[in-house]
Amino acid sequence: QGTYLTQSIDADYVRGVLPRRKPDGHKGTFGKAYLLAGSVGYTGAPVLAARAAARTGCGLVTLGVPESIYAIAAGKCEEPMPYPLPDTKGQFSKKALQGVLERASGSDAVLIGPGVGRASEAAWLMRTLLDQLGVPVVLDADGINALEGHIDVLDRRKGKVTVLTPHDGEFARIGGDLSSGDRVDAAREFARRHGCYLVLKGHATVVVSPAGTALINTTGNSGMAKGGSGDVLAGMLVSLLAQGAGPMAAAGAAVWLHGRAGDLAAQALTEYAMTPQDMIGRIPAAFQSIR
Ligand code: APR
Ligand code: MG
Repeated sequence: QGTYLTQSIDADYVRGVLPRRKPDGHKGTFGKAYLLAGSVGYTGAPVLAARAAARTGCGLVTLGVPESIYAIAAGKCEEPMPYPLPDTKGQFSKKALQGVLERASGSDAVLIGPGVGRASEAAWLMRTLLDQLGVPVVLDADGINALEGHIDVLDRRKGKVTVLTPHDGEFARIGGDLSSGDRVDAAREFARRHGCYLVLKGHATVVVSPAGTALINTTGNSGMAKGGSGDVLAGMLVSLLAQGAGPMAAAGAAVWLHGRAGDLAAQALTEYAMTPQDMIGRIPAAFQSIR
């Protein structure tokens, strides 16, 4: 597969692909992100993702959460706009479908999955949204898990933009094959077979397109290996997509800025003590470091 392009992501790359901000732009210009996230037991994931999205430049962030955790999410959101959706036993119920479609189909990009849980109705909801939404979708965490045994749902989205952000465990769960030890080849093979974009996370995260183009990230550190880091990345990525960045540009810029925010957090706080919330606080400095 040596004929494919593989490029390292650096500050110059990010500077080159970030959506320009029109001086006379209004919040509509900069895009609407819709996030479906959270469950009883995972109240932090939706808030981390929504805050990270708001810190990454899109005009509006709407957050659909199970009604059982709505008050908690609302208490932690200033800029993002949370609203309640029907749930059963603390996870989204099938009845949430109409309420999601009403708002998500009018947005510029959608994130599905952080902290949603693995109950059957919630998984059905996420798969049905994949079938019905035409807008670009980022699928993370339990959104990816919902494809286990249902990979046909992903295949049916060929022609639409779908970006999956698995860690190795999630990648294996949906049929990714890491046995060769070559993460770039493994990611390429999966993306080609299923017609999706793939962000294979870990140390030196790999981003691939369905056509085989690959990017390798150069930022980040093991202080990021803590629950919630992935939710921050997912929020940053959907925010850049909502602003009109193409999927490779959005994913490449998101992973670099996310890792850079992590590196700045580690410098100030140590890899031991830094938390995903501290990374959100350093997204501004990460943007400053590419200027
Ligand atoms: N070096 C650089 N980056 C790293 C390192 C490392 N050693 N370790 C982790 N990271 C980065 C990854 O690249 C990724 O961006 O931190 C992030 C971790 O994301 P996840 O693996 O998704 O972890 P997490 O935030 O805990 O996910 C939370 O997702 O997998 C589910 O069940 C999990 O619900 C939970 C949710
Ligand atoms: Mg995760």
